[in-house]
Amino acid sequence: MAPDLQRLSEAAAGLFVELAGDAVDRRGRFAVALSGGSTPRRLYQLLAGAPWRQRVDWGCCHFFWGDERLVPPDHPDSNYRLARETLLDGLPLSPDQIHRVPVELGEPETVAAAYEEELRRFFGRGPAAGDKPLSYTLEEFPRFDLVLLGLGTDGHTASLFPGQVALEQRDRWAVATPPGRLPPPVDRITLTLPVLNAARIVVFLVAGADKTSVLREILEGESCLPAARVRPTQGELRWFVDR
Ligand code: 6PG
Repeated sequence: MAPDLQRLSEAAAGLFVELAGDAVDRRGRFAVALSGGSTPRRLYQLLAGAPWRQRVDWGCCHFFWGDERLVPPDHPDSNYRLARETLLDGLPLSPDQIHRVPVELGEPETVAAAYEEELRRFFGRGPAAGDKPLSYTLEEFPRFDLVLLGLGTDGHTASLFPGQVALEQRDRWAVATPPGRLPPPVDRITLTLPVLNAARIVVFLVAGADKTSVLREILEGESCLPAARVRPTQGELRWFVDR
């Protein structure tokens, strides 16, 4: 537990550097799914500056998004724009290292299918769409080195909102979801639970008094809220929270 968002973000930046170094040493690349919302803004700003910037081999990093709003990439509500402005623009990256959700393709399902295709191109095919997997083994889902997530006051995470059918999705890697109860009221694209749970490590960044009750409910262990269903199958789950 960190005293405030600044110290929480510094701790998360330290972990990011450590995980990136480990992934590059072992596998030659670091695949991260970035979170949207406002909480990660400070983390992204820290990573783009000293001392953290110098400690990552950025040429081996690949950036995806855990979820995206169906708004143009330069829209104030775009999770891509948040990351681009606070982090990516300041890094020595080539365009093929940034795997944004192609929101310009229009229909939500078309966008979700295209994003899933991008994931399959990068991580490997997995079973062809329509092949019923024999079992939901880990190999059938892309394994991110790090998935960053936030927590909504309604218990949503990424764009998996309470009560939505997307929560029960077992085959797809990315799907479209209608707006949840919380703003902005736009369609979303989100990674599915099996993909989140296939990660080597999932890190939740949670700050602000308004998250206290939902965080307590989830950490007490009995909740079936979306964020409570993030339990990495063969990976770690870490909560970075402020006091
Ligand atoms: C989104 C985010 C979402 C976010 C939570 C917390 O697209 O909105 O991915 O899941 O992480 O809503 O948002 P805050 O960090 O703004 O509280």
